[in-house]
Amino acid sequence: MPVKLTVNAKPTTVDVPAEMPLLWVLRDVLDLKGTKFGCGMAQCGACTVHLDGVPVRSCILPVSKAAGKRVTTIEGLSEDGSHPLQKVWCELDVPQCGYCQAGQLMSASALLASNPHPSDAQIDTAMAGNICRCATYLRIREGIKKAAAMKAEQVAPARPARKRTGK
Ligand code: FES
Ligand code: FES
Repeated sequence: MPVKLTVNAKPTTVDVPAEMPLLWVLRDVLDLKGTKFGCGMAQCGACTVHLDGVPVRSCILPVSKAAGKRVTTIEGLSEDGSHPLQKVWCELDVPQCGYCQAGQLMSASALLASNPHPSDAQIDTAMAGNICRCATYLRIREGIKKAAAMKAEQVAPARPARKRTGK
């Protein structure tokens, strides 16, 4: 069955069974391998992508549910790795083995898009479904806070220099 959707801002049509999980379509049909398969049961978050900006577990989402919607994967988070989270992730060396990190970044970016200044508790709640076997949780939380600060700096207007009066 042909399914039309937009993947990383590109209109796309895939001819697959309607019940095929979106994750399979992304990885095996569209060759977008950044999104990972972990549990296949919506329990680990490794397969997280955005559907119309909302984080979803693509391992259990039939592709038919994505018809007519915008799907964003880790490959589409930014064109050149310039999303504040991607920059901070490198700066702080957040990943260890890296397997869970695409999912972590997609959940974190959805959080910052809806809540630019999350508290520790809000970060922990938003990220609770993303499991990291390497236990990088503290660096993930630090990274989200640092990226939030970086984003705030980017949107804050530069202060005009104060004039010296000589008095
Ligand atoms: S692979 Fe989808 S939540 Fe684990
Ligand atoms: S960095 Fe290894 S599972 Fe998270």
